[in-house]
Amino acid sequence: MKILLIVSSKHRQNTLKIAEAMSEAAPTVIAELKDIQNYDIDKFDILGFGSGIYAGKINKNMTKFIKSSVHNKKVFLFTTSGTGNYEKYNAATVKLLESNNNTVLGNFGCKGLCKWFIFALVGGIAKNHPDIDDFDAAQTFIEGVVENYSKTI
Ligand SMILES: Cc1cc2nc3c(=O)[nH]c(=O)nc-3n(C[C@H](O)[C@H](O)[C@H](O)COP(=O)(O)O)c2cc1C
Repeated sequence: MKILLIVSSKHRQNTLKIAEAMSEAAPTVIAELKDIQNYDIDKFDILGFGSGIYAGKINKNMTKFIKSSVHNKKVFLFTTSGTGNYEKYNAATVKLLESNNNTVLGNFGCKGLCKWFIFALVGGIAKNHPDIDDFDAAQTFIEGVVENYSKTI
């Protein structure tokens, strides 16, 4: 079983750190979204989409890519954000994935240090995140994704 993690993590690489933690718990390849043309997504059993949250949404190019190229796949989503309110932030993308006839195996999120704009004046919000507990949670999550996948085959 092979998992491709497609990641957009432009602010502080918080989401990339979560992807790297996941890689220690499951057989993954990490691809940056900007390089996705170099990968054949059909060769992977599961696609995991990871993005920071910017003004309430995942990276716009990731949404475009999902719309154009991700159909009939087994997928999951993970995000990092200043508030960590991932159920709210991920909902639209989960809906989009489902509407493209993909099977959503899981949905995860955690806090990620934000030093954007005025938040930098106070040293940022979600300081020290993602932290060890976030990495542990991400690893437990991806183990659950693998288990969910095994129930679909
Ligand atoms: C331009 C910008 C907009 C952001 N908007 C939000 C937001 O709407 N809600 C939130 O909780 N965090 C927001 N954040 C914080 C990021 O989601 C958070 O730092 C995240 O971990 C960044 O992920 P990355 O380092 O992988 O890019 C924003 C950060 C930036 C730079």
